[in-house]
Amino acid sequence: MLLESQIAIVTGAASGMGAATARLLTEAGATVLGADISRTPGIALVGDVSNPKFCDAAVAKAVALHGRLDILVNAAGVIVRADAPATDDDAWYRQMRVNVDGTFFMCRAAIRQMRQQGSGAIVNFGSIWGSAGGKGHVAYATAKGAVHNLTRSLALDHAREGIRVNAVCPGEVDTPMLRGAGRAVPLTDAQLADMADRVVPNGRLAQPDEIARVVVFLCTDAASYMTGALVPVDGGWSAG
Ligand SMILES: NC(=O)c1ccc[n+]([C@@H]2O[C@H](COP(=O)([O-])OP(=O)(O)OC[C@H]3O[C@@H](n4cnc5c(N)ncnc54)[C@H](O)[C@@H]3O)[C@@H](O)[C@H]2O)c1
Repeated sequence: MLLESQIAIVTGAASGMGAATARLLTEAGATVLGADISRTPGIALVGDVSNPKFCDAAVAKAVALHGRLDILVNAAGVIVRADAPATDDDAWYRQMRVNVDGTFFMCRAAIRQMRQQGSGAIVNFGSIWGSAGGKGHVAYATAKGAVHNLTRSLALDHAREGIRVNAVCPGEVDTPMLRGAGRAVPLTDAQLADMADRVVPNGRLAQPDEIARVVVFLCTDAASYMTGALVPVDGGWSAG
């Protein structure tokens, strides 16, 4: 129970890696408030992270209920799968609003609280495509690059206030986003296995828990000297 009596917010907690992270943080002893735009059982904070008022209210609710906020995990995200000519204005802005603005607004609200406490841990969801180009995913890779540098900049600004800010950078993870989001037809199991074989050095997709376990580690004091790190969890992809 490494996180006993810790208060956490996890965005994107209704699905995929956010859901896995919320579950594993709870198993580690934390009290977790899930936040998601999807009205799903177990989600305490229903709303849109691209709305700064929602983000401020989410942190305010955690503080009203529990008196503090120790952990923020930003897993909410969307993906636009298109090259530049095929990316219309709405898709571009939606990609930036959710993944970049949403991550920033949640971090800002959390840090305003955490600096008063003199402690806190934030984990953002980057991507292998935040540090490399994403072919056919220009808006998404641009947004993830912004999340990476947001993470590093926040880490520098708040390193002496007891606040650590890191990012996990997953490779190909078996979630509803990978299977279906932004695709005309969801990928079949055979197509996913083929993709993993072609793209991932260890030849398989990650399961959400394999990423969430690293997120939990980054939230604990076991990672006390880590801040501003972009941690690849990618089956070897970024080694190539
Ligand atoms: N799946 C992958 O292979 C992969 C790889 C690298 C990075 N990532 C990133 O990991 C994170 C989690 O992805 P996932 O694969 O678990 O996705 P997912 O689609 O399974 O879950 C994303 C969740 O975010 C929520 N969400 C979307 N827009 C929102 C908004 N505006 N406000 C609040 N909630 C919102 C969705 O409702 C959903 O529950 C994302 O940031 C994604 O970009 C995913």
